[in-house]
Amino acid sequence: MSNESITSVLKEARRFAPSKEFSERARVSSREDYERLYKESLEDPETFWRRESADLVFREPWKETSREKGGKGPAKFPFVEWFVGAKLNVTESCLDRHMSTWRRNKAAILWEGELGETRTVTYAELYRETIRLANALAKLGVQKGDRVAIYMGMIPEVAVAMLACARLGAVHTVIFGGFAAEAIAQRVADSQAKIVITQDGGYRRGNVLALKEVVDRAVSQPEAKSVEKVVVFRHLGERGPHVHMTADRDVWWNDIVEESIAGPAKEATIVDAEHPLYILYTSGSTGKPKGVLHTTAGYLVGTHVSFKYAFDARDEDVYWCTADVGWVTGHSYLVYGPFSNGATCVMYEGAPNYPDWGRFWSIVERWGVTTLYTAPTAIRAFIRQGEAWPNKYDLSSLRLLGSVGEPINPEAWIWYNEVIGKGRCPIVDTWWQTETGAIMMSTLPGAVFTKPGSTGLPWFGVEPAVVAKDPSNPSGYREVDANQGGLLILKRPWPSMLRTVWGDDDRFKKQYFSEIDGVYFTGDGARKDEDGYHWVVGRIDDVLNVAGHRIGTAEIESALVSHPAVAEAAAVGRPDDLKGQALVVFVTVKPGNKPNSDLAGRLGDHVANEIGKFAKPDQIRFADALPKTRSGKIMRRLLKDVAAGRTATGDTSTLEDLAVLSKLASDKYEE
Ligand code: WTA
Repeated sequence: MSNESITSVLKEARRFAPSKEFSERARVSSREDYERLYKESLEDPETFWRRESADLVFREPWKETSREKGGKGPAKFPFVEWFVGAKLNVTESCLDRHMSTWRRNKAAILWEGELGETRTVTYAELYRETIRLANALAKLGVQKGDRVAIYMGMIPEVAVAMLACARLGAVHTVIFGGFAAEAIAQRVADSQAKIVITQDGGYRRGNVLALKEVVDRAVSQPEAKSVEKVVVFRHLGERGPHVHMTADRDVWWNDIVEESIAGPAKEATIVDAEHPLYILYTSGSTGKPKGVLHTTAGYLVGTHVSFKYAFDARDEDVYWCTADVGWVTGHSYLVYGPFSNGATCVMYEGAPNYPDWGRFWSIVERWGVTTLYTAPTAIRAFIRQGEAWPNKYDLSSLRLLGSVGEPINPEAWIWYNEVIGKGRCPIVDTWWQTETGAIMMSTLPGAVFTKPGSTGLPWFGVEPAVVAKDPSNPSGYREVDANQGGLLILKRPWPSMLRTVWGDDDRFKKQYFSEIDGVYFTGDGARKDEDGYHWVVGRIDDVLNVAGHRIGTAEIESALVSHPAVAEAAAVGRPDDLKGQALVVFVTVKPGNKPNSDLAGRLGDHVANEIGKFAKPDQIRFADALPKTRSGKIMRRLLKDVAAGRTATGDTSTLEDLAVLSKLASDKYEE
């Protein structure tokens, strides 16, 4: 957010009440109803969760709601177990349970390709396709607990691939289709994936992305040697790139699936509540990406219940979550949450501006979308293109709008409300994280008034607090007064929380529970106002949120220093009106290299190759030396100020004398 936006958030006092019409029909109709449910969720979690998950399929019911892992008594950070003793398979809740109801032939996915072709996949078809692929994966040797990497675009088969893994009790790790070969290899190595599922290619902004070719480059690296088979879905066929199939390793999905669903996966593999469901890699403040581990029952219950209430879900809705399935929003609110509720989901393959900026609104009109869940960065991009685009289309089917991924600035909120929602649709601003698995705060639609820029009230079972560290207190912190900024923490465990960082319990403990002992530290800064509404200002650690993509500064820096010309690098965020934050890097070069625009271009490409194009720095600035504290730490706060133009600096193309600057500023920035 820009400085002006932050100021406007602080001054923002407008309130928008939901319409009477919406509230009367809503699942939760008033703040009192919300408070009652919320109180129950904290004081009697057993009753709350049992009732709210009654429509899910459990082969064995749980005996204990939660406990400390392996211990007795209520759940306590860091290691927890939920719904202890339950046995289930998530696909029975997402698929099988709909087979005996009218939803059997209901659309699960309404798919639209970038070039305009469409497909409708019913629940019965999704069920069949999932079992067919699961049977084939079982024949390839995939067993319960094995890891399977998925590198695909936004096509129905990506959901099929995820569900097929879950059917077998295998652990999927979806890798966003924008990641480069290096990043895939790194994730495969960390998860020791046995299989990679991909597709020949897909469309993005009218270009063909050769996904299989990227997988070839990833899998040929020595660190990716765990991979035994690559399964390739034929999506583009003749229209696509040439696909080279490596003998004994690569197989076509279309060839290995059989027509009949009779096979080992016809019956789902029943697993324990805490059996791993998936790993999703995300950026942290240090080191390489972390494999966030989600497990079976808690995650299913968390996404199921939150989908139902946050989107006030009803059977006749047409719900569209625009997030890519490669991020957590795509996991929780494009697959597990909606399918476990039997919802109809729109899935769109391509870019929001292809062939023009009317694309999103044409999709809303064509499919009669009732519920739209998107990110502020997309809204800001639409604002720039003008109202004429949405105004060309009939958006009257919309009844609810959602926002996720970053703080929404009031200007964008108002535009979303007026131009898209025509003032009729409540906006549900949902705050959560890859680690939380499901929504943790929201402006529950129909129940509470909304305030532009505020993410509202705690979710059921969630106890957030805005605090300052205070070693003199036994808890190690104190809650700050209303409207004071502080660290956002979560005080008690919740069902869909991450269980660990894959293969690294120590990192899990350090990353989330060491800032303040005994509570979960979100990495976000926030304030709570006099109505109990939360205002998240963004990350206060070294994680950036660039156009809704979570990027660790440490990852960018290590990608840069792996380039032979770079001696040192520091990455920081700069407020940006469109992307929320822009990525600025400061680089010192090794002797013999000229810091010029040519090198800057090559370094940008290098980052794109190492991580992915979405992580390419917005600006590369060269310096003689990076400013450091006496103990040798890079002064990031100084660099942030320099990047934001808050300190006088020369032209970006010239070498910046940050060393001098740091001497001048050392008192202010010494840590
Ligand atoms: C930010 C995405 C303000 C926040 C689901 C968080 C938000 C990080 C919101 C997690 C929101 C997400 N308002 N900030 N409604 N939603 N964030 O893991 O900084 O990709 O810590 O999960 O996004 O990003 P992640």
